Amino acid sequence: MKLQRDIPLLSCNTLAVPASAQFFVSVDQEKGLRDAVQYSQRHSIPRLILGGGSNIVLSKDFPGLVVRLSMKGIDILEQTSDNITVAVAAGENWDELVQYSLANGWFGLENLSAIPGNVGAAPIQNIGAYGVEIGTVLKGVHGLDIESMSMRYLAAHDCELGYRNSIFKGALKDRFVITRVELELSMHDAPVLTYPALIEALGEQKPSAQNVAAAVRALRGQRLPDPKRVPNVGSFFKNPVVSDDAYTALKQKYPEMPSWNVPEGYKLAAGWLLENAGWRGYEGQAELAGVGTYAHQALVMVNPGHRPGAIVMKLADKIAASVKATFGVSLEIEPRVY
Ligand code: FAD
Ligand code: EPU
Repeated sequence: MKLQRDIPLLSCNTLAVPASAQFFVSVDQEKGLRDAVQYSQRHSIPRLILGGGSNIVLSKDFPGLVVRLSMKGIDILEQTSDNITVAVAAGENWDELVQYSLANGWFGLENLSAIPGNVGAAPIQNIGAYGVEIGTVLKGVHGLDIESMSMRYLAAHDCELGYRNSIFKGALKDRFVITRVELELSMHDAPVLTYPALIEALGEQKPSAQNVAAAVRALRGQRLPDPKRVPNVGSFFKNPVVSDDAYTALKQKYPEMPSWNVPEGYKLAAGWLLENAGWRGYEGQAELAGVGTYAHQALVMVNPGHRPGAIVMKLADKIAASVKATFGVSLEIEPRVY
């Protein structure tokens, strides 16, 4: 095991937080992963499993072992004239997989084009965009169960997938390392067209999956900053769900407020709430200098000043308090904060 010490993590997190790791190891095989986990157990130090670092906030230097997963490989497990099942290693880049699948005539991932990060992290928050979540095509995951130190397969229906949620953020948080993801894709080009902005962008045409992928890329380009140029972690808060009563009161006061009826009540657009509480395009001053929110999407917090994660969190707390005071709605942070 090639263990490194005091490794800067700025280039390992898309928010460009200048934190460091006490210990760091990159693993490309199951054996290396086991060794790394056992090392952290032997020394009783915390562990951070790292993919592309596009959904984490490092609020301080990490006082333990960062394990970066870099396993590669895409295997076809089964193929019929209708479907194909593929197993993809955790360290593969998500968007490269989307492009590879489209190039091979495997369909189902097109709406999830251009989401940063690695394949192994995709089920953690059940990545979703433009009307599709990975749960739609996930067959199951293989991974290391840290409690028993044995490899385990979890079928998708046991992953407790929800909106930006899964068992890996609940009962199996920090207890299961996904090493391979199995996806069941379609051999038929039949795009999902439910997201209003996507339907509008495609106009009258009967689009192919390639058209959908291109439209999603274009929409994302308008709304989300490229982390290479403007450090960010995508949406900083989840879209909140409120009760029927809370919704009715808000809708009376703000008839133009976007909302969606969901089984638990109404889902609101956190971006709209932030913008209407005055936070779109905010540029921090004084202590908050160098952090802010994106000019085209209030929900995206940006860190052009490469400020520490604690400063980003200070602004996040301020924004959440302001939304609560203005609308009475509580916001939940989407990325994992360490
Ligand atoms: P990391 O940030 O490395 O890890 C995230 C969390 O998962 C950490 O807690 C980590 O410990 C854990 N983890 C990572 N890999 C594993 C593994 N193999 N096993 C167990 N735990 C693991 N998300 C969406 O859902 N939809 C979007 O549209 C979207 N758009 C985005 C746009 C931008 C510009 C950015 C920067 C982010 C966006 N995201 C979006 C968030 C992010 O891309 C996803 O959450 C992605 O899946 C994170 O992958 P990662 O490899 O970077 O994970
Ligand atoms: N809106 C505003 N002002 C803003 C931002 C948004 O009024 O500053 C309004 C929009 O006009 C629209 C509504 O809010 O009516 C929703 O906006 P958008 O379509 O941009 O989507 P979102 O809800 O802000 C979610 C996901 C994104 C995902 C897109 C597309 C969450 C927390 N975010 O954003 O995921 O890409 O939908 O499906 O669910 C991520 O998770 O990191 C992420 C980027």
